Amino acid sequence: MLRQIAEKIVQAQRTVVFVGAGVSTESGIPDFRSPGGIWTRFDPEEFTYQNFLASERARERYWQLGREIYALIKAAQPNAAHLAIAEMERMGLLDCLITQNIDGLHFKAGNTPEKVIEIHGTVMYVLCLTCRKRYSRDEIELRLAAGEKVPRCDECGGLLKPATVAFGQPMPERETAEAFRRSAASDLFICIGSSLVVHPAAQLPVVAKDNGAFLVIINRDPTTCDSIADVVHRGLAGPAMEEIMRYVKEMKP
Ligand code: APR
Repeated sequence: MLRQIAEKIVQAQRTVVFVGAGVSTESGIPDFRSPGGIWTRFDPEEFTYQNFLASERARERYWQLGREIYALIKAAQPNAAHLAIAEMERMGLLDCLITQNIDGLHFKAGNTPEKVIEIHGTVMYVLCLTCRKRYSRDEIELRLAAGEKVPRCDECGGLLKPATVAFGQPMPERETAEAFRRSAASDLFICIGSSLVVHPAAQLPVVAKDNGAFLVIINRDPTTCDSIADVVHRGLAGPAMEEIMRYVKEMKP
């Protein structure tokens, strides 16, 4: 089966790879819905955009959780799955990578920004919700470490928030439209490490399939799109992608 996926990658004209938190668990970053995942330890209802806007206490809790996750992200290294997707780009076999992840590990692995759509944003910088001033995450982390609990904009006093998309927060328009356009235009769509339960992102494999793409799912557990996939590999992303790229290099040295 992995050899078949490799053949498809070599033959395809426009391969879109679509990933979720499952590609980063082998780098030490927990996913959301597996046992021990973020939403099994914290209540997602507490971390909605509306709550963030509504209460100082909610913002304090949001930044506490954010610091815990950011510490893991800072320490994380790309794993074999990230490295394989970067290799696909280097070999000219990747039309684009659409990631639901906010950890920036694709860039550490070697993917270039032009090829990556971060549909749920990134923790790597912070934005003022009022004047849109942009701060580096490390700059804000220093302020938090120095005791600031709910950072505010030093230009306008507005609320600062990591540049991620929280539940209830509008999706980034340009990135979302481009993700749907590229998915619909793909002839091979590979989903890796996502439960495919959060919309609109989870619609992307359906749009790809509806427009004629060959749909591959690589995931440890069942997903909502297994029934429409052409190939489902039930297993870990790192080892699977490593083996697939070994076959690809045999076919396209
Ligand atoms: N290899 C393969 N699959 C894995 C691995 C692994 N090493 N580790 C976890 N998985 C699978 C799990 O089986 C699960 O189906 O990855 C999937 C992760 O699913 P979720 O935790 O729901 O993460 P994701 O699909 O990315 O969530 C989507 O939800 O909370 C929001 O914004 C957040 O982007 C996130 C979105």
